[in-house]
Amino acid sequence: MSETVAQLSKKTGASPVLQVAHLSKKLGGKPILQDCSLTLNRGELKVLIGPSGAGKSTLLQCINCLIPPDEGKILLEGRALNVADRRALCAFRAQVGMIFQDFNLFDHLTAEENVAIALRKVRGMNRQDAQRRAQEELGRVGMSRRAGLYPAQLSGGQKQRVAIARALAMDPKVILLDEPTSALDPELVGEVLAVIKDLARGGMTMLMATHQMDFARALAHEILFMEQGIIIEQGAPDVLLAEGSATRTRDFCKHLLEMGA
Ligand SMILES: Nc1ncnc2c1ncn2[C@@H]1O[C@H](COP(=O)(O)OP(=O)(O)O)[C@@H](O)[C@H]1O
Ligand SMILES: [Mg+2]
Repeated sequence: MSETVAQLSKKTGASPVLQVAHLSKKLGGKPILQDCSLTLNRGELKVLIGPSGAGKSTLLQCINCLIPPDEGKILLEGRALNVADRRALCAFRAQVGMIFQDFNLFDHLTAEENVAIALRKVRGMNRQDAQRRAQEELGRVGMSRRAGLYPAQLSGGQKQRVAIARALAMDPKVILLDEPTSALDPELVGEVLAVIKDLARGGMTMLMATHQMDFARALAHEILFMEQGIIIEQGAPDVLLAEGSATRTRDFCKHLLEMGA
């Protein structure tokens, strides 16, 4: 498989960081994901959209093996992940950042400690180096001044920025974001999208589930539209959202606009 990947990159000039091939998952006997395949090339931002219950969160969690897939392959830089190998799985997870809707910060740790703890536990850094690196990453998301505050003292937007700093501290090869602005008050959405926009412009490879269509239209290399566990459309925003196009993606966006989302 890695040969095929190398040959493909040579031919197209694209460099696949993450490949997901024919991923399927059943939960409670019900098919939740069916034959999902996608490729993220280096520096690409792809956006996953679709109605609630489509399987977006399950797909992102299967890619990170937080939920083990039933079938399919996941490749990072051309190397297939062996889910049964615990060490390989830990190494894989350390390279694939995950951002959740509800931040998932430790409430009893300050912003800085939330970022530093992963550096110490996963990277084995000493306390001082971890603190220094945590400060740097918090600076990148505009949170230096609030490094000593606890999650309860931060707004939702600030908490999400800390979660992004924590992911960045691991030097991930790719970041998966599951509706990172959905739990935020509308006035806080912009500050988190601005951070994600900076990452995209800086060449970070990302797959992001979102309903923020203006953001997707402006920044995504591709939109993946998902419904009932199947990726049914995949293409550049210009193509899928073109005036007059009869795509499911465009239907869905019109529906979102009508709902005032
Ligand atoms: N543990 C579970 N057991 C059974 N069904 C589940 C479980 N978790 C999620 N589902 C179902 O999987 C479907 C996809 O859910 P999800 O991935 O959360 O969709 P989305 O993120 O697109 O809203 C939904 O129908 C949901 O009810
Ligand atoms: Mg979801």
